[in-house]
Amino acid sequence: MKGILLAGGSGSRLYPLSLVANKQLQPVYDKPMVYYPLTVLIAGGIREICLIAAPEDLPRFQQLLGDGSQWGIHLEYRLQARPEGIAQTFLIAADFIGDGPVTLILGDNLFFGGDALPRALAAFQGGASIFAYHVTNPSSYGVVELDASGQARSLEEKPASPRSPFAVPGVYLYDGQVVEIARSLKPSSRGELEVTDVNREYLRRGQLQVTRLSRGFAWLDAGTSTSLFDAAAFVQTIEKRQGIKLGCPEEAALRRGFLSLEQFENLIQKMPDCEYRHYLQGIGTDFRRAESAQMSMPA
Ligand code: DAU
Repeated sequence: MKGILLAGGSGSRLYPLSLVANKQLQPVYDKPMVYYPLTVLIAGGIREICLIAAPEDLPRFQQLLGDGSQWGIHLEYRLQARPEGIAQTFLIAADFIGDGPVTLILGDNLFFGGDALPRALAAFQGGASIFAYHVTNPSSYGVVELDASGQARSLEEKPASPRSPFAVPGVYLYDGQVVEIARSLKPSSRGELEVTDVNREYLRRGQLQVTRLSRGFAWLDAGTSTSLFDAAAFVQTIEKRQGIKLGCPEEAALRRGFLSLEQFENLIQKMPDCEYRHYLQGIGTDFRRAESAQMSMPA
């Protein structure tokens, strides 16, 4: 499975913050926003990732994330000249996707809790796999209507009168058909190639699977000043209470085995003295302890 992180868009809803940096480079509490979706991909076991951004922002992403080798992954980059829709991703990155499969994650979506995403990634067999999440404001999202057995009945993008309270979060799993489907799309009334139209086509083909995310699962988007602040407050609350960090690519890479403990420790050595480094040092110490406990176990 490959991964695509979509980090383009104009970010106009964040003005005047958007004058300082593109949306996905803004801080969400203690890390740049893009760290969160990137960590979801790494935690899901994805090593080959393509990041798509606007031409003026791409150099900054490249400077921040490099080629990914520091986390044991391979990162490449593509330009989106204009924000002409989420489904344009599959045209821009067609050569990267090849025969698929691919996971697309939106750069302003934050996910936390449970193992629904890694499980769906591990279980993916073809077609498309999307998620459903109960929200109070479904009209702001793609909305999926489910039948009694949990199968999708209909999909609509930002309907004025939603048929269900289930929004479709910005993480989608597709097989190789996605490129050909994207090529057949027409722009919507707002002039965009809609990801909801891609999902509708999979539904029409009888190849769309929907997983309901459970009550304890947190999905936030951070596209406006208010939701950005809410997301930061959420991350701070969890981190302070549990003593863990969300959206930490180094930790996810270590846990996934993309980095050896030695590589992880070398990476930390290069960081300035700060809370982030202290946290990672604690993780490293836990791993060392677990390693030596295992070594001292009788065979
Ligand atoms: O957050 C989930 C929702 O994302 C889904 O429920 C909707 O079905 C989907 O259309 C999308 O709705 P939004 O209105 O939130 O999309 P937005 O235009 O804010 O774009 C989401 C992210 O994708 C954002 O980080 C910017 C990026 N983007 C968007 C477009 C349209 C691009 O990089 N390029 C684009 O052309």
